[in-house]
Amino acid sequence: MATVATDPLGIRDALPQPPDTLAQVRDYYGSTLQGSKDLKTSACCCAPDSASPEVREVLALVAPEVLERFYGCGSPLPPLLEGCTVLDLGCGTGRDCFVASKLVGPQGHVIGIDMTPEQIAVARRYEAVQAERFGYAAPNTAFLDGYIEDLAAAGIADGSVDVVISNCVINLSPAKEQVFREIYRVLKPGGELYFSDVFADRRLPREAQSDPVLRGECLGGALYAEDFRRLLARAGWADFRYMGSSPVSVDDGELYAKVGMVAFSSRTVRAFKLDSLEDLCEDYGQVAVYKGTIPGFLHHFDLDDHHRFLTGKPRLVCGNTAAMLSETRFAPHFCVTGDRSAHYGAFACGTFGGSDGHGGSACDNGVGPVATGDPENNGGCC
Ligand SMILES: C[S@@+](CC[C@H](N)C(=O)[O-])C[C@H]1O[C@@H](n2cnc3c(N)ncnc32)[C@H](O)[C@@H]1O
Repeated sequence: MATVATDPLGIRDALPQPPDTLAQVRDYYGSTLQGSKDLKTSACCCAPDSASPEVREVLALVAPEVLERFYGCGSPLPPLLEGCTVLDLGCGTGRDCFVASKLVGPQGHVIGIDMTPEQIAVARRYEAVQAERFGYAAPNTAFLDGYIEDLAAAGIADGSVDVVISNCVINLSPAKEQVFREIYRVLKPGGELYFSDVFADRRLPREAQSDPVLRGECLGGALYAEDFRRLLARAGWADFRYMGSSPVSVDDGELYAKVGMVAFSSRTVRAFKLDSLEDLCEDYGQVAVYKGTIPGFLHHFDLDDHHRFLTGKPRLVCGNTAAMLSETRFAPHFCVTGDRSAHYGAFACGTFGGSDGHGGSACDNGVGPVATGDPENNGGCC
């Protein structure tokens, strides 16, 4: 078993954490697990259906060893990545990095960072192979040893990244607020955080948080949805959006005895680095129309789990949604009219913070995924 410093960063969240969390997690991914088959729960083991057709097509080109050591809980690869610099936090053996490598194209760049040498070593071994499969003259990927809590130490400069992704990693961090601060720092203005992770409907008992197996399986450190909302706001993010959610089951008898009372879910979250975002949705009478031009999204585009934009159909949106559509890489694909010169009060957005543990964002009715078809919701964003 690897011997590592217990807290090399000296950073902790407000709640006291088990002293050896990072070391436990590194041992779990470096020594205990040899592949997805060794996992005891479905938490770090993605439902393949969550991947878009575009992503599934690229996955067919990724080396089997990389796929066998995939421990993600979603598919955090948003559209429109061509030419982007993408940073994957806790990249493991690089599955999402290699998919992103194809999606960003030869002009784009992908950086993966992970603290477990055994994981990074696999990713590095396949860099040249994957570049060749994608038809690139040289890899557009770089895999760094490092901590997601201290991206500066890994050489990642302020405002240098277009999109930060992460798949089932932030739950493992003993300093989650610091992670969200670092992400905010490294993103360019208008850049996007898009990540999948395990969430819980309550704070876990202290013993469960420090149980090495529960922690390693992405349950012990799972974010209580309401604490996530608070923590993100404290780290400077005024708004975020849920993209979708699926339940995580705990079938192992021993683990169920410890956390069977908790409802875990895997969720994908989107948040933009925009100074113009407010902590609640405000009504400025702005209207957005989707042009139908994002590749793979001819007839509609889902900004989040309750904003489906039908191609060509105007929709009244709050100031935050207008900013997300007009001040980011999505801007060329939307026509957003109106500005913030006139204010019509708060935007009717239902409850703030779902009572069902949905952990509402600034614009969230807490009801979950958008219905298919026309939401008939032109009077409000929710
Ligand atoms: C559940 S695995 C997910 C790996 C990868 N994202 C995937 O989808 O296969 C968690 C990964 O995060 C890494 N990790 C956990 N905490 C970390 C931290 N604080 N800094 C850097 N990497 C970390 C682990 O080494 C491990 O490779």
